[in-house]
Amino acid sequence: MTAQDFILNTYHSDIESGSVKWSSPSNIALVKYWGKKKDQIPENPSISFTLSDCKTITEVTYTKKETKDFSFDVYFEGEKNEAFKPKIQTFFERIETYLPFLRDYHFKIETSNTFPHSSGIASSASGMSAIALCLMSVEEQLKSDVTLSAVERSHDKSYFNQKASFLARLGSGSACRSIEGELVVWGDNESIPESSDLYGVKFEGEVHSNFSNYQDTILLVDKGEKQVSSTVGHNLMFGHPFAKQRFDQAHENLAKLKAILASGDLKQFVEIVESEALTLHAMMMTSMPYFILMKPNTLEIINKIWEYRAKTNSNVCFTLDAGANVHVLYPFSEKGNVLDFIKNELVRYCQNEHYICDQLGLGATRI
Ligand code: DP6
Repeated sequence: MTAQDFILNTYHSDIESGSVKWSSPSNIALVKYWGKKKDQIPENPSISFTLSDCKTITEVTYTKKETKDFSFDVYFEGEKNEAFKPKIQTFFERIETYLPFLRDYHFKIETSNTFPHSSGIASSASGMSAIALCLMSVEEQLKSDVTLSAVERSHDKSYFNQKASFLARLGSGSACRSIEGELVVWGDNESIPESSDLYGVKFEGEVHSNFSNYQDTILLVDKGEKQVSSTVGHNLMFGHPFAKQRFDQAHENLAKLKAILASGDLKQFVEIVESEALTLHAMMMTSMPYFILMKPNTLEIINKIWEYRAKTNSNVCFTLDAGANVHVLYPFSEKGNVLDFIKNELVRYCQNEHYICDQLGLGATRI
């Protein structure tokens, strides 16, 4: 697939109005995306767990209009929201080549999250993937063709998911990994032949039962606005002294992780995942200007996890995204013990003792 394949050429512009609704989850990267080229092309491949309960629910209502500008309103949790508009305007500008009907309709975008907005959990992955999916459903309605055979329909479904992921990527890179579950790869990598820089693909390799229902408890260490946005952070990988080594390392880690997912070796899993998280933050600390997104309590939690692991031989581990919050990852078989540990020893480091329990999920669903 190339970007050209995603251009919609013909559609029924006589449809007056309609409405579509999707629920799309967040995801947590195991091998991290950090650094991008023009048009949201990643510098290195990444792989993530799709989450189950941290989701954005978005409804898009479209109504035919005469003017040729972009026209949309955004409602967040029932209230009209102006703050989200610039991001969506930029998104529309980036994707209009692929969805030419964007200028034919007025869009009412109503969105809400299942997790608290001020939790510091990145909502761009679930939020942008939910809008991308809604717009794909609009595309589907505008080119509706009842004569499709079953084979054509199944082809259509993979096209739908690929283009939804392609569009989501143009909204926010990590959002392209939220369409499907349970593991999604984004970015060309030799060990995963179907992988692409343009969209995320479901990881089709062997996955050991040790990873079934894998748990992710998100410890909300800091719910505030980040001092440095991901977009600024990605850009600091240009001219970064360790950029090349880092990008090469991500390729190697993805290949190693593929083998680990098949073998079910949890000790090796922990090693790669924690090393990826710390490398991500090391890149931030060694960029120019340098910055630190971890907080003292992030480090307290990491040290407690290491202590607990040494004491109990547990396979619990941590990962981080571009912020201070800690994702605690562990096998379903350890759920009881690890939750006790979290409640007794880690929750005290969370802001207002706030944490969210989540687990592996299957991807977005149409409502
Ligand atoms: C650290 O996807 O938020 O979470 O493409 O600029 O929107 P933009 O960035 P974004 O970056 C996420 C980076 C990360 C790692 C990851 O999810 O792979």
